Amino acid sequence: MRVLVIGSGAREHALCVALQSDPAVSALACAPGNAGTRTLADALPVDAADPVAVASAAREWRADLVVVGPEVPLVAGAADAVREAGIACFGPSAQAARLEGSKSFAKHVMTAAGVPTARSWAVGGPAELETALDEVAALTGGAPYVVKDDGLAAGKGVVVTSDRAAAADHGRRVLDAGGSVLIEEYLDGPEVSLFAVTDGATVLPLVPAQDAKRRDDGDAGPNTGGMGAYAPLPWAPPGLVEDVLATVLQPTVDEMARRGEPFAGLLYAGLALTSRGVRVVEFNARFGDPETQVVLPLLETPLGGLLHAAATGTLADHPPLRWRDGAAVTVVVAAAGYPEAPRTGDPVTGADADGVLHAGTVLAADGTVLSAGGRVLAVTATGSDLAAARQAAYERVAGVRLADAHWRTDIALAAVEGRITP
Ligand code: AMP
Ligand code: GLY
Repeated sequence: MRVLVIGSGAREHALCVALQSDPAVSALACAPGNAGTRTLADALPVDAADPVAVASAAREWRADLVVVGPEVPLVAGAADAVREAGIACFGPSAQAARLEGSKSFAKHVMTAAGVPTARSWAVGGPAELETALDEVAALTGGAPYVVKDDGLAAGKGVVVTSDRAAAADHGRRVLDAGGSVLIEEYLDGPEVSLFAVTDGATVLPLVPAQDAKRRDDGDAGPNTGGMGAYAPLPWAPPGLVEDVLATVLQPTVDEMARRGEPFAGLLYAGLALTSRGVRVVEFNARFGDPETQVVLPLLETPLGGLLHAAATGTLADHPPLRWRDGAAVTVVVAAAGYPEAPRTGDPVTGADADGVLHAGTVLAADGTVLSAGGRVLAVTATGSDLAAARQAAYERVAGVRLADAHWRTDIALAAVEGRITP
């Protein structure tokens, strides 16, 4: 099976590593890929956001399966275009990807499916913003304000703050830019990222992971695309996965099928384990980044066969998933200025070591690896338990060099120290 991965981040590098170890995968390409994926997959120079270009690259490279990593191509219709070209594709249609692309659409689906989520209020325009903030604060007992851009924002569209002026500023900025704003009830409790592979009917959950969304240690600083992750979650309540499958994942997939917009691909449930029970914070329509970098190293089941079964509607016949013992930790090494204004073009060294997944890199003509994005590397390690994986990951971080880089030093620390209680 010839597999083409679309995207250029560490998630795609992790997908390539896992696919390469599947004996059923005979050839691997990544479009456009990065300096890391080039070492194990053909590099196809394709604009991933252009569905026509993606489909023609898949045809020319004679792909048997296309795996779409990021949300932007999915929302633009890349999976539809690939399927129209007669090629199996792991990734939802543009219609179904609205579960991620529009937070208000996701709320409608969750309401129809009876899936527990935060209450939310749409803000019509700037004139309503201030009253909406006050009304929600009154209803939710003055908890922190949660103000969201309704559309895709790469994890940076949400502000959670007790500072009313900052909440209003964010809402006004989104509205001024022509976007729509949702104000949400604040969800307390630890967050869980639970991925499920689905063909639109059968749903197979993966192991739960947790990512660190804030830039700085101690969950301080702005929200980012994700600064690190670990899996599994030693503190997760027993039965969590079965519970979320029954109350969130399966009902959502069933509701999408009922609407005639089946969701096939990776359904990512971002959950909060609140004092009032599990709530969905968000859905994503693709593998999470950086959680994929810790979930896939633990998966023993060959990935290519699994994704192909989901893409071809045969997941009901797929054997149960097998998992390795132990744990995995990934630490994102970010460029100076990330997330606001990342600096690019700096040389990166030590990035060819084991477990160093490339997130934002390019290979210069002279063979040097250069930073090319905000998140530059996702340095990953496994271990017999979380403490061992964490130690190994940070030892690997010490081996990479990028001028003025920053990374969190506390990824997985609270879990190792038993400080997370759902
Ligand atoms: P989203 O863009 O919806 O994924 O939100 C990004 C991050 O903001 C989430 O992972 C949470 O950490 C935080 N967040 C979003 N919605 C809420 C909420 N209703 N209550 C508390 N935190 C939230
Ligand atoms: N790790 C968050 C995301 O992939 O959206």
